[in-house]
Amino acid sequence: MTRVAVIAGDGIGPEVVGATMRLLGMMDLGLEFVEAPMGLECFKRTGEYLPRETLRVLEGSKAALFGAITSPVAPDPSYSSPLLELRRRFDLYANVRPCFPLLPELRVTDLNAVIVRENTEGMYTGREREEDGSVVLERVVSERGCRRIVEKAVKVTKAMGLSKVTCVHKANVLRRSDGLFRRVFYEVMEGTGLEADDMLVDAAAAALISQPKRFQCIVTLNLYGDILSDEAAALTGGLGMAPSANLGAHFGLFEPVHGSAPDIAGKGIANPCATILSACLMLTFLRRMDAAARLQAALVQTLTEGERTRDLGGSLGTWEFADRVAERLVR
Ligand code: NAI
Ligand code: MG
Repeated sequence: MTRVAVIAGDGIGPEVVGATMRLLGMMDLGLEFVEAPMGLECFKRTGEYLPRETLRVLEGSKAALFGAITSPVAPDPSYSSPLLELRRRFDLYANVRPCFPLLPELRVTDLNAVIVRENTEGMYTGREREEDGSVVLERVVSERGCRRIVEKAVKVTKAMGLSKVTCVHKANVLRRSDGLFRRVFYEVMEGTGLEADDMLVDAAAAALISQPKRFQCIVTLNLYGDILSDEAAALTGGLGMAPSANLGAHFGLFEPVHGSAPDIAGKGIANPCATILSACLMLTFLRRMDAAARLQAALVQTLTEGERTRDLGGSLGTWEFADRVAERLVR
């Protein structure tokens, strides 16, 4: 049976993942779910942020559903993020974030787009060193990295029935590195039958607000994608609604865009929508198309009928909200 790792993590992670698992548990998916600990609470219990046993579970899994983890507050030079470690170890090179408003009244601009972000190189190589009173960061843009992220963007664009890909870069300043990205972009786009254009990242940040309709799929490098996708999440419904996928060649890790929200953790009020939508992306990845569509339809119906958590102006708790979705899932 196909195995799926479930990493609840810290803060609201166990709440939003728990609510989502309640819904997945109601569906006949032919999947085996295995819990795997990771993060700060795990560290406090076991002395490890990312236990070997969790890596073993992940290695035997096709996908993982992940909540969020809390970064330690006190600066600890020995800390390295277990999530970045997973992205590196499983070579999860593509971060895919659909930015479609589920509820028209939550959207700020008329943006309907998907952002495909390079997830393993660029500014986030982690290679920083001190040199003559400065800190020097190695920013890596490789031809292979550019090619595979643009190829992934083409795949995602076609799978979603879209027709245009926009390359977002800063090649006017970063002439060689981002210039390479831009050149490879147009090479890969040649002959795909899709429309292709490119834009500078600062202009793109403004255009997401002033000309949202010009975007369908945005393909971009790590830092730009990190920032633009949070902007796009805010424009289309807020953090509580934004799902994401981290994809490698053979494995996918699916997680809400938001963090562990320590300010509301343990209160039972977190919005589980972003995690439920991440589970829908995961079901699609696992080729459970019907189940993905059923779960998303139940979620949309629940929201449309006015059932909401507090961040969306409603009064329901995490579990109550999940119960309302569950009612519509069985109907
Ligand atoms: P955050 O996303 O956890 O919270 C930002 C604000 O949004 C908070 O006011 C929070 O209450 C609210 N919020 C977030 N998700 C919500 C939900 N589902 N329902 C209702 N309200 C929600 O970001 P913050 O506060 O910057 O980070 C908190 C911790 O999470 C930090 O330790 C950070 O390092 C970590 N983090 C982890 C991520 C991950 O595991 N992938 C991603 C981002 C942050
Ligand atoms: Mg971010």
